[in-house]
Amino acid sequence: MKNRGPRLVLLGKQGAGKGTQASQLAEHYGVLHLATGDLFRAAAHEGTPLGVEAQSYMDVGELVPDEIVIGVVEEELARSGAARTGFVLDGFPRTVRQADELERVLDDHPLDVVIDLDVPTEIVLHRIAGRRVCIQCQTPYHVDAPPKEGWTCDLCGGDVIQRDDDTEDAVMRRLELWELQTLPLIQFYRRRGILAHVDGTGDADDVFESMVVSVELRTADEA
Ligand code: AP5
Ligand code: MG
Repeated sequence: MKNRGPRLVLLGKQGAGKGTQASQLAEHYGVLHLATGDLFRAAAHEGTPLGVEAQSYMDVGELVPDEIVIGVVEEELARSGAARTGFVLDGFPRTVRQADELERVLDDHPLDVVIDLDVPTEIVLHRIAGRRVCIQCQTPYHVDAPPKEGWTCDLCGGDVIQRDDDTEDAVMRRLELWELQTLPLIQFYRRRGILAHVDGTGDADDVFESMVVSVELRTADEA
């Protein structure tokens, strides 16, 4: 393996498993896991001005305005130095403008691979309906795969609850926005020659193995 981690973006509709896979991939490669939704939920939980503003969009399933999201991502990448060391982006970019801005921010550290985690809508609806997340560290669980003890996070001991935006109306709006705003990114990254597809319908461990294979295939020439 080369002397830095991959610069990786995960695309995938709501409930596809981006958060589940991104945290494992980031740990596997020792790189930053940057999830814009998790950042906004943490800020909302703390009641910061950013959190209060973001929550007003999130609760109804709308996208947080591009300029806010781009500012947050730029700051996190600069603070962590992850453009150089590697990262897994989960939930960003989500519009063509965000993708353009990401290229500007990364400058001479371009993305290695963009993985489209493909899961049919009927399956994501089931996953979202049963999802529960840790209020502190955002680890996702499911009613079919709960924490070991009650609704207490296995990793940090935080309360595990249902997300405020996992209501039927907000989920339908998020899926609609995925089609309108985020789907064009598949074509955007295909043109860049860095798009990979991974079937996200299997067991989470099998999906993880497929993702690692995809990353290795596209970064092998830098070994
Ligand atoms: P965000 O938090 O990113 O939500 P999302 O895109 O709707 O995606 P999810 O987190 O719902 O799904 P996921 O793919 O991470 O699935 P998960 O791993 O949890 O964004 C929330 C909001 O923030 C947005 O609506 C917007 O308002 C704002 N926002 C964020 N980024 C933004 C941006 N760039 N621009 C503008 N606004 C932005 O898995 C789902 C469930 O399935 C879990 O219960 C999990 O345990 C289970 N599961 C996972 N994998 C499997 C598997 N293989 N088999 C069975 N179950 C599985
Ligand atoms: Mg997520």
